[in-house]
Amino acid sequence: MHNRTVFLLIQTCSLIVGIAKATQRQKPLLAYAPWNSAKSIETQAQDSGILKLEEWINGQNEFSQKQILANIAPISNDHKAVPGAICASPSRAYPNYYYTWTRDSALTMSEVFEWINSTNEVENVMKDYIQFTEKVQKMNGLQYGLGEAKFNMDGTPFKGSWCNAQTDGPAIRARVVLKYISHLQGQKKDWRRLVDIVKRDLDYVAEVYGQNKHCDIWEEARGLHLYTLLAQRRALVEGVLFMQKVDDKAADKYNHAVKGIEKLLPQFWDDKRGHLLTTVDKSGGIRSKQSNLDAQTMLAGLHYGIDGNDEFGVGSKWMTATVFQLLRVFSSMYTINEVASTEIGGKNIPVGVAIGRYPEDVYDGVGVSSGNPWSLLTSGLAEYHYRLAALFISANSAEVSEELSQLLEWTRNMSGLEVGNFSGEKLVGGSTEFRGLIRYLMEAGDLYMARVSRHTAGDHTMFEQWYKYDGFGHGAIHLTWSYVAHLAASRARSEIVEYLR
Ligand code: NOJ
Ligand code: NOJ
Repeated sequence: MHNRTVFLLIQTCSLIVGIAKATQRQKPLLAYAPWNSAKSIETQAQDSGILKLEEWINGQNEFSQKQILANIAPISNDHKAVPGAICASPSRAYPNYYYTWTRDSALTMSEVFEWINSTNEVENVMKDYIQFTEKVQKMNGLQYGLGEAKFNMDGTPFKGSWCNAQTDGPAIRARVVLKYISHLQGQKKDWRRLVDIVKRDLDYVAEVYGQNKHCDIWEEARGLHLYTLLAQRRALVEGVLFMQKVDDKAADKYNHAVKGIEKLLPQFWDDKRGHLLTTVDKSGGIRSKQSNLDAQTMLAGLHYGIDGNDEFGVGSKWMTATVFQLLRVFSSMYTINEVASTEIGGKNIPVGVAIGRYPEDVYDGVGVSSGNPWSLLTSGLAEYHYRLAALFISANSAEVSEELSQLLEWTRNMSGLEVGNFSGEKLVGGSTEFRGLIRYLMEAGDLYMARVSRHTAGDHTMFEQWYKYDGFGHGAIHLTWSYVAHLAASRARSEIVEYLR
């Protein structure tokens, strides 16, 4: 049979299976048994299929690490790619993502940094990345300076027209270099040379933040963007701490910029709509985003929230309300969300909602038609639930806000996961109720992990998107960021498992 025919056949079959499964939606086949505190987590895991999901997660972790490294130059089939350049995806046509975006690259290197003590290879990759960064920072004639969104893999500037500048990238990159510096300090190795690299990026950020002509991370809207501002704030806050330690006057400049950003932030909460806004003070770009509800806001909380009382962090009510609204709006938007469970290793496991970027999105991964759910964003949902649990664990107490109990209840109705009614309660760390809540949040996160697993190819290949009608991978293949997001979620999960043991 012709390949294309086989593909269509598979698509059709999966559509039929999808429809069949969708009809079971009222009564999802629950493999996750209600939590029974009399049984050990291991026994219950055996019963419930959690172990099967964990097997998948582990396999996916291994593959993701390998594929991330394969996307970083030196790249086997491209001798022109400069070491340290990281392609967003190896796809060179439909879509062409074979460029190194400052944002994607920095997010990737923050993940790679987590493996630094495991192999020498990582240390070398970090060195290449630093060298590449220096080259870009010193390049002459960049129209948008360090805010230039992407570069060719051979290290030359991208000359086509693009939504520029994007000012989150240099901020995220400065954080990577700061982390590496603290690693080098721990190893008693020379780090002073790297301070200038950090300063070039942070000086840039301190100069340009708050200008509403810049583009958002989806490269479509001009205005003030919550994601971008939070990325900048976090980098500058870390910059202040570091510069103070090394007695560098740049600390004052960065501190001043942090204060400036903080003045801009409150306007992003919209009480009437009940969620955080993604862009305010628009000055151009895409006009169709009336809802102003966007999953990049959740990413901002995950990547740049500051633990504790941060109104934009994982633990904030505003963030919880926003995540809830995202779930609600996307649950009815994509056909694949009609399916309530998936089979992993012979066990039936409930799945949560797959989410996309924003409800009005028309980017289909190659061109413009209509939007699809994204792998990295759905992994982000999993990470959100695990990280919320982790915050409670570290605070040794949990306050169940109205927003959180709304989210929990909605999740219960969607998935059938059992959860007690905790509304308005403050749960004491270690109590049965507290452990129940943590356990529940883990299972809620697992819903989204299982969703990702359902649409990830059997050989672990990830894409940017899933076609909303059949769930097959769509758009850029081997999107580096999709693997990065999976690994971040998986790491957050292992903390919770550790606690529940
Ligand atoms: C439009 C998309 O919305 C945007 O996110 C993407 O970066 C560009 N096209 C280029 O693929
Ligand atoms: C499109 C996304 O919208 C953007 O955020 C990303 O940087 C590029 N693709 C590359 O992955």
